[in-house]
Order: sequence, then structure tokens, then C-alpha cells
Amino acid sequence: MRLLSLRLIVSLIVGVTLVSFAFSYYQVLAEKHGLRHELERRSELLGESLSGNVERSLEADTNQGLTNLVQQFGNREHLVGVAVYDQQGKLVAITPELAQILTVTPASIKQAIAQNQDESAFVRTGKEQIHVLALPLRHDGQVIGGLAVVHDVAYIRAQTLRTWRETFFRVLALVVLIVMITLLIVRWSVAGPIAKAAQWIRAMHTGRISSRHEMPDLDIFRPLVREVTTIAESLRRARNAAENEARLRDAVASRWTAERLSVHVRTRLDGSRLFVVSNRQPYEHQRDGKTLKVAVPPSGLVTALEPVLNACDGTWIAHGNGNADAEVVDSNDRLRVPPDDPHYTLRRVWLTKEEEEGYYYGFANEGLWPLCHIAHARPIFRANDWKQYVEVNQKFMKALLVETADTPEPVVLIQDYHFALLPQLFKEKRPDARVAIFWHIPWPNPEAFGICPWQRQILEGLLGADLIGFHIQSHCNNFLETVDRVLESRVDWEHFSVVRHDHRTIVHPFPISVDLPDIKPAEEPRSGTTYEERVELFRSAGVEATRLGIGIDRVDYTKGILERFLAIERFLEKYPVYQRQFTFVQIGAPSRTHIKRYHDLLAEVEAEAERINWRFQTGKWRPIVFLKRHHSHQEIVPFYRAADLCLVTSLHDGMNLVAKEFLAARRDESGVLILSQFTGAARELRDALLVNPYDIDQTAEAIRIALEMEPEEKQMRVQRMRRVIRENNIYRWAGNLITELCDVRLDQTEENERLRADVSAAGM
Ligand code: G6P
Repeated sequence: MRLLSLRLIVSLIVGVTLVSFAFSYYQVLAEKHGLRHELERRSELLGESLSGNVERSLEADTNQGLTNLVQQFGNREHLVGVAVYDQQGKLVAITPELAQILTVTPASIKQAIAQNQDESAFVRTGKEQIHVLALPLRHDGQVIGGLAVVHDVAYIRAQTLRTWRETFFRVLALVVLIVMITLLIVRWSVAGPIAKAAQWIRAMHTGRISSRHEMPDLDIFRPLVREVTTIAESLRRARNAAENEARLRDAVASRWTAERLSVHVRTRLDGSRLFVVSNRQPYEHQRDGKTLKVAVPPSGLVTALEPVLNACDGTWIAHGNGNADAEVVDSNDRLRVPPDDPHYTLRRVWLTKEEEEGYYYGFANEGLWPLCHIAHARPIFRANDWKQYVEVNQKFMKALLVETADTPEPVVLIQDYHFALLPQLFKEKRPDARVAIFWHIPWPNPEAFGICPWQRQILEGLLGADLIGFHIQSHCNNFLETVDRVLESRVDWEHFSVVRHDHRTIVHPFPISVDLPDIKPAEEPRSGTTYEERVELFRSAGVEATRLGIGIDRVDYTKGILERFLAIERFLEKYPVYQRQFTFVQIGAPSRTHIKRYHDLLAEVEAEAERINWRFQTGKWRPIVFLKRHHSHQEIVPFYRAADLCLVTSLHDGMNLVAKEFLAARRDESGVLILSQFTGAARELRDALLVNPYDIDQTAEAIRIALEMEPEEKQMRVQRMRRVIRENNIYRWAGNLITELCDVRLDQTEENERLRADVSAAGM
């Protein structure tokens, strides 16, 4: 910029000087001409007025008279003198001053006499420059001599020099003025806007602002602004395209979506199909008088598997427990679901009351459930329950055989503790199948598991699978240790697998998750602000409060609902300022109420809420609102979104998807998650406020911290946890599980493996 100004200034100086001097040169020249002309005119006047007298004197041949005459004119302005010459050009009379300068007859005199006409000439004599006007002197028309009127021309030169000097100073002043004005113009109109534009372009180029930020007003550079803005817009588009491409590339490498899972599974299945077996079905048909209703049951397993089946069409085999389930199936007990937008097949298996009683309520939920959860509920094992459990597993095996009959090398994902025997039962019939079982609940240590009278059969049944999945590594370790203690087998701790009877079972963790679509908070369609939603929820619950806590669970003793209520009581005791402000809404879906323990728990939870409410409630405010019914996901989302905090206080939990669903719903990146350290989710969601639910004071304190947490802190924590869920979403869970299962070599007998090891050792 400085160099530019310098160049500009130098050019201006040179230009202005040249123009000024050229102009002055013509001015001086004109002035010089004018002066000369004036001199010639004066000289002529003088010459004319003199010549008559001189002619007469010359005619009279009176030298003295001539001398006297010429001397009379000697003192005129700038006149050096006059001289008179005879016909031959010989000096006749001359004024004294002129006599010193004019030593010879000027050529103009000779010319004037010869040509009989006036001659004017500027001549130099020594140092002096003079003007000589030569006039012929006549008598009777005959030239009788010549008259020279000589003027000093030095004053013209002096005048010219003065003019040049003045011009010089004028040009100097002009140059200084112009340079200063130019500098100011450059600074205000050029340098300023250019600096601003440069700043803007730099900011845009470095991505600090987008080209949507208008370019500063650049005054005289407005046309430039248009062009630069166009270039900036193209740059922005190019950058966005590059970013999108990079994001896509990154997403392809890391992010799992329904579409990716669908393509991936189709590729991996290579013409085969996916079969899922679980006790709980994704849709339950209930008849209420004349109306047929469809319900999605409260189950983390269903929440997780539904998107997977939707993504890669397959068959889901489950217990048809709805009172109208049989009405809607075809002759093969199948129907396409989801009912509103069918994507996969649901195959229902019917159970007798006795089977349901023994297998589901009895062995699964009174035996295995408390056995695997450290929640201090005594497991109950009855021989008849076990019998039913075995029979129902066989029943499902038969259903699975029918469904997979036309599919070579079917890929089967068995779900949960209801089907511990199914992997072995099915593999015996279909050794070409790839079978995985995912255990959605914790696996206890070998001592705890050892309580089960049929632990051996359960382990053998599970090891029929090619792959066993748990949520976290410690459940895998507990399982492998249990196998190690109970069965004759080889546990490979390096690869986390078990080899038994020439069959290898891989045991790996696959943390289950939810779907968290990539929608930015700004894009989220919302009915109102969090505050408005909260007011509406309180209004519909008939409560007046300002702060909302939320808990969503099946009413199950493993969920720590009573401990949670005690923590709320303690919190209100310790921080009375939150009374009449904080209300906790517990959505409790009654569950397994046919079991006494669950039935009693429901009553206990209700009683405990009432006790605490009775203690604190005033006016329209209540500390706890217990909504004792199953709520659909759509009904739950407004609670998730409006809550200041979500309490997940499980005493023991395989994963707990409520914690993840709460975060998935928080597109506003707010809210606080208080999470039991005994959930599988606590391994991933490190930015939750982790609590020991047995420590009532600690949970109470966490509630206070959550309510007083700075918005920035909440946002930072939610953002980080959402990122974890987005990366490790349900599609990744399914993708990883299916990939590992499809990678299993069906011919991996001990002998084959030894052979492969020998070959690689020999370097072949
Ligand atoms: C847990 C189990 C699931 C089960 C769910 C609901 O999440 O892991 O297998 O479906 O609880 O229990 P329910 O007995 O009602 O199916």
C-alpha cells in the first residue's frame, strides 16, 4: 500500500510539474512576445517621430544639429540611444551611451538603406541584448541615410526570469497541495475501504464469517464489491461442498444410519435373511370392546430393535401376548409391521397360560432376572418353571426352523435371557445358520450365577451360539469366568471366546443404543419453548411448579424408583427453597404385575409418592406426580424435552435406554442427566452426574447441582453425550453385531483351526 502511494505521488508530482511547466512555458513565451512587440511598437513610434527631424537635419548636413537632436531622445525608458547613418551606412551622429555599445554599423541599417524599408532586429552585442529598429531616412523619396533606434532588451529577460521564478513557486505550492489532497483521498476513499475489504475477505477466507455477512460499504469500489461478493459466494459454496463431502466421507467411515445399515446388512447377508427372536413383540394388538388397538410395549429391547428391522426387512419372531393378536395374523401367524408403514414381518408364537406362567413369569422373571441383577431380590427357581422354560425354547426353535426353512445360512439374532437354550437347540438343527444371542441384562459374577440349579444347561445352551453379545466388557468377563468354572471348555482370554465341543463362541461387548438423527437444533420443528412445554405439562398434571424433573421406567425393583423418591424427599428437606418450585414427574409403566414382587412394588411406589406429597404439598404444588400407566414414545418426548433433569437411578441395569432417549430428545442441548453408576450407560455417558442410587444424600445433592447448573455447562455436557450417542447409535450396534456374526467361519472346528495355525506358522 505504501509503495502504491509512493508511486502515485511521484507520478502526480512529475505530471503536475510537467503540465505546470509546459503551461508556464507558453505563458512566458507569450509574455516575452508581448513585451517584444510592445518594445517594437514603442521603438517604431519613436523612430517615426524622430525620423522627420533627422531627415531635415541630415539634409541640411548639420552634424551638430543632428547630434543635438539625437541626444534629446537619449533618456527615454529602456532606450539605449539613437544613431544616424548616411547613405553609405557611415555613422553621422550617435548618442553617447549607444556609442559605447554600437561600435559597428548594424546589419539592419544597411538592409533598411538598401531595401528602403524598416528593419527590426534583436541582436546581441557582447553581453548586452539590444533591439535595433532601423529606418530609412528619405528626401524626396530618395534614401539619404538610416536611423537606428536602439533599446535595451535586458528588462524583457528579467521579466521572463521573474515569471519563471513565480511559476516555480506556484508549481511547488500546487504540487504540495495536490500531494496532500491525494494522500487524504487515498486514505479516506481507497486505503480505508480496501483495508476493510481485506479484513472482510480475510475473515471470510479463514471461515470466521460467512459470505452471507455483507461486505462493508466500499464507497467508490461498489462495482468491485459486487464482483468480490460473487466470488465470495462461490467460495462459500465450494467450501460447503468440500465440507459436506468431507463430512460424508467421515460419516461413511464412522457414522451409521438406517440407510447404511440397510445396505450393509444386505451386502453382508449376501442373499440370506435376518431373523430376530425375542419374547417381547414390537406390536401388540388389544381388543377393547369393538375397538382394536395397537400398542408398542415398554421395552428397551423393542426400542432398540425396531429401527434395525425397519432398516433391513427380515422376520421378527415373538410371543403373541395381545388379546387380539391372533385376529390380525395370516394363516402362518405372520403379519407385516409397523402397521402404518410395513417394513418387515412379525411372526407370532402362541403360548399357553401354563407356558407363559412357567417360562416368562417364573423362570425368566422370577429366576434369571433377579439372578442377573444385583438388586437384592431373591431369585426363585422352580422345577416346573424350568420345564416350561425348556419347552418354550423348543417351541420357538420350531418356529424359527419353519421361518428359516427356505433360507440357506440364515442369520439369526436371538434376544435376551428368555432364550438361553435356543442357540444350541437351533444350531443342532441348522448348523449352517449363523446364530448370535444378545443378553440385554447384566451377567453376574460366577458365585452369584452359581445359585441357578440349571446353570450348566443355560451355559451350554448359550454356547450353541457363534456369538454372544453383552452391553459391556465386564459382563463378558463375568460370563467367561462363569463358563470357566462350570464347563469343560477352553476359554480364550486373548480373543474373548470359548471353544467347546469343537465349536467356538465369541463373547464381545456391543453397547446398545438409540437412533439420534443429525438434526440441528435450529431445524427442529417445535410446538413451543421448553418453558411453554413445561407450563403445559404442569397444567395437564394439575400442578403448579416451575422446575421439572422426570423419571421414566417400567415399575421394576431394579430401577431404583423408591430410592429416587427418597432422594427427592431429602433434597426438598435440605433445600426448602425448592419447595413449591420443583416437581418430579414419574412415568411408571406397570410391568410383570402378575408377579407378586412387581405387584407389591407398584403399590409401594404409589404409597411412597403419596407419603412424600402429603409431607410437602401446599396449594396446587406437589413434589411428585406419579403417572401410573404406559406412555407411548410420542407421549414421553414432551416430558424429556421440557425437563430440567432426568433421573435414572437403576440399582443395576444392563444398559438403560431411557438415559440415551432423554439425550436424543434434547435437541436444544440442555437438561441434566443424573445417572446411576450401576448402569451400562454410565460407561459411555461420562458427562452425566453419576450417582450411587443407594446413597440418598448424594442423589439429593445431584438434583440440586442439576437445577443450579450454568446453561453453558449443561450444553457442553449434553453436546458431548449426544455426540457419543450419535456415533454409537443403534445402527452401529446392529451393524457391528451383524458384521461379527457374518464374519464367523462356520467350519471353525478345532481341527481346522489347528490346521490354519500350522499353515501360518510355516509361513505358507
Ligand atoms: C428388559 C429386558 C427385555 C424386556 C424388557 C421389558 O429390558 O431386557 O427383554 O422386554 O425389560 O420387560 P417385559 O418383561 O415387559 O418384556
